[in-house]
Amino acid sequence: MPNFSPRLEIYPQRIAENARVILGLCHNHGIQVAAVTKVTCAHPAVSQALLDAGVDMLADSRIENLQALRRLGATLPLMLLRIPAPSQAAEVVRWSDVSLNSSVATLRLLSQAAAFHGVLHRVILMVDLGDLREGIWPDRAVDALREAVTLPALDVIGLGCNLACYGGVIPTTEKMQQLIDLRHTCRAATGLELPVLCGGNSANLPLLAAGGMPPEINLLRIGETMLLGCSVIDRSALAGHPPGRSARGGRGDRAGTQALRSHRASAGRMPSAGRRNLWTAASVSALSATWGGRMWWWIISHQKIPVSSCWAAAATISFLMWKMRSKRLPSVRKSPSTLAMARCWRRALQPMYTKW
Ligand SMILES: Cc1ncc(COP(=O)(O)O)c(C=O)c1O
Repeated sequence: MPNFSPRLEIYPQRIAENARVILGLCHNHGIQVAAVTKVTCAHPAVSQALLDAGVDMLADSRIENLQALRRLGATLPLMLLRIPAPSQAAEVVRWSDVSLNSSVATLRLLSQAAAFHGVLHRVILMVDLGDLREGIWPDRAVDALREAVTLPALDVIGLGCNLACYGGVIPTTEKMQQLIDLRHTCRAATGLELPVLCGGNSANLPLLAAGGMPPEINLLRIGETMLLGCSVIDRSALAGHPPGRSARGGRGDRAGTQALRSHRASAGRMPSAGRRNLWTAASVSALSATWGGRMWWWIISHQKIPVSSCWAAAATISFLMWKMRSKRLPSVRKSPSTLAMARCWRRALQPMYTKW
């Protein structure tokens, strides 16, 4: 039975291509990149593509996914994105090299767990710069760090923030400057070096590309733009990204679908649905003309249908099937009867063209 269930087509090579563009952009500005794998549940093909592209770190929100990354053979540092649950402290220090934190109580537990396992766990203290998703308030950062510095098995390596996530606060130079200023204050109050400033996620890339990212920001956690190849703010192509190389391909996304089609055509990969239907129609005609000829002949002679009408019918059906999937005849696409007819044809012919 042909499989008509919805499916997600993933192109790891295209994701690797996106990753290389982002890495080029970030590394030129002295920024390291933690590639976020959570949206694909650390799928091995996608994670491997990111590793091949040369990302600096892998980041995920689930311990199980971090385990999968280690099983894949990743030797890079792994970052836990989700604020650790106190009950998972032991797992967190075991499977992640660095975690993002917003609670002093959890930091204490992480330190105990790390001491128990004999490891030094690195943490980034998250600060809420207005997006209201995570982080402590900036005016509490100094107190939190004063306590963190007393925890023996923790290494507080820096400050981080997350923007354009819950509250829709767009990253700006001013927001990044707030993080930098806070580090000055915390350094002066605690003596901690705090070398890492983790400025945010994909939403920071447009600021970076526009030249507005202060040089002190040296780490970003990038997920969506690596997967989709476009800005999460306005969906425009990422700067430095060749047009038509987006990995987006949803049916409702005309630009993305066109990009996918042109990419497939140029890369000589699997033909697009429109092309497949054209091929199917051509093959049906060819087959009809050869071993299907007898059947045609029987129909024509017994029903007294003129040969020209048969060919006209075959050509019309082939044409409609082809047009069904292309954008050039919107009226054909909208007609319910045409849709139903084409659906029947597709169902009947699917086993043939899925084999190609
Ligand atoms: C804490 C954190 N940082 C970064 C990211 C990556 O965000 P984006 O996919 O917009 O790059 C996420 C979400 O995936 C996240 O939860």
